[in-house]
Amino acid sequence: MLMKMKFNKISVSYLFLVFQAIFFRKYECKVVQFIFGDSLSDVGNNNYFSKSLAKANLPWYGIDFGSGMPNGRFTNGRTVADIIGDKMGVPRPPAFMDPTLTEDVILSNGVNYASGGGGILNETGGLFVQRLSFNKQIELFQGTQQLIRARIGDDAAGKFFQEARYVVALGSNDFINNYLMPVYRDSWSYTDTTFLEYLMDTLQGQLKLLHGLGARQVIVFGLGPMGCIPLQRVLSSDGGCQEKPNKLAQDFNQAASKLVNDLNANLVNASFKFGDAYDVVNDVITNPSKYGFSNADSPCCSFGQIRPALTCIPASTLCKDRSKYVFWDEYHPSDSANAIIARELMNKFGYLGGTASAPSPSAMPPSSSR
Ligand SMILES: *[C@@H]1O[C@H](CO)[C@@H](O)[C@H](O)[C@H]1NC(C)=O
Ligand SMILES: *[C@@H]1O[C@H](CO)[C@@H](O)[C@H](O)[C@H]1NC(C)=O
Repeated sequence: MLMKMKFNKISVSYLFLVFQAIFFRKYECKVVQFIFGDSLSDVGNNNYFSKSLAKANLPWYGIDFGSGMPNGRFTNGRTVADIIGDKMGVPRPPAFMDPTLTEDVILSNGVNYASGGGGILNETGGLFVQRLSFNKQIELFQGTQQLIRARIGDDAAGKFFQEARYVVALGSNDFINNYLMPVYRDSWSYTDTTFLEYLMDTLQGQLKLLHGLGARQVIVFGLGPMGCIPLQRVLSSDGGCQEKPNKLAQDFNQAASKLVNDLNANLVNASFKFGDAYDVVNDVITNPSKYGFSNADSPCCSFGQIRPALTCIPASTLCKDRSKYVFWDEYHPSDSANAIIARELMNKFGYLGGTASAPSPSAMPPSSSR
């Protein structure tokens, strides 16, 4: 009896090794992405939060994507991360909250943890009730790592996570839905300078943590001219861009760029890159026609004069040509603006123009829109 049990134990572990070997071979070359972000990168996480006040689950969100039904993206078409991932030849990762997410799906597609309203700081976006902060997203990623280690073993999992691509795209909400809103404690607890330091300290800890978890190839997106989003313009007396948010975005970009470069120089095997599209978006807003746009100050999808309270809802009116509007709703750029932003970021990351740092993951075609 004892012998038999022992034998069973051995054969089970033997089978387990064979099992691991098969999966190790199978997944050795798959390069996937893990995306951390806010509404600019959300692909549906918030739709699963019953109490979230930041959801893109109603028309006309997604009208130019796939079937044209809302898919959780806060735009009419693709996000910037979609466009960059497609260009890099990596699949578009599904939302973490998607109930069909399994280990196999993760191993072949990665995971997107981005959540509308989320920020670098835990307290950011509290008004939206439910959202995933960057810290929470990293916690969920740790859970994902446990699942994958259990599935393919520590060694294969370690390799899988080191070879993966990481996108970190947060920060706008830390200003728009925190520091710049008097209802948030941070708005009166900090000055421009101390708030930026607080953000950078937090971001530094988070990026180091990700590196500790195996992330090596990390791209960090900076901020655009937040003072020029329709929501900020409609709140200014003359409808122009608000200078303060723009200055804060520029300061954030400068500090984050330095932080990422420092980490890149000091963390083992790190390939951390920072890129922002501030200048290009600013130019698009100043000279829209130069880039083929006819409108750079109001949302394509809006509910007449009831701005900014009601934005893109089923009863809203859409602009005639969605490709000619820089902004889709009060906060978010349109698909055509995202294409310009993505191009600029890829340029900053060195992904364009055949430089040595051009990405070369496994020759996998981009997944069709999902
Ligand atoms: C932020 O939230 C995480 C949980 O997601 C928690 O572990 C961490 O201690 C919090 N940080 C602060 C500064 O409150
Ligand atoms: C750094 O990269 C080398 C070569 O790929 C690898 O052997 C080593 O384990 C890596 N070190 C860490 C800490 O990731």
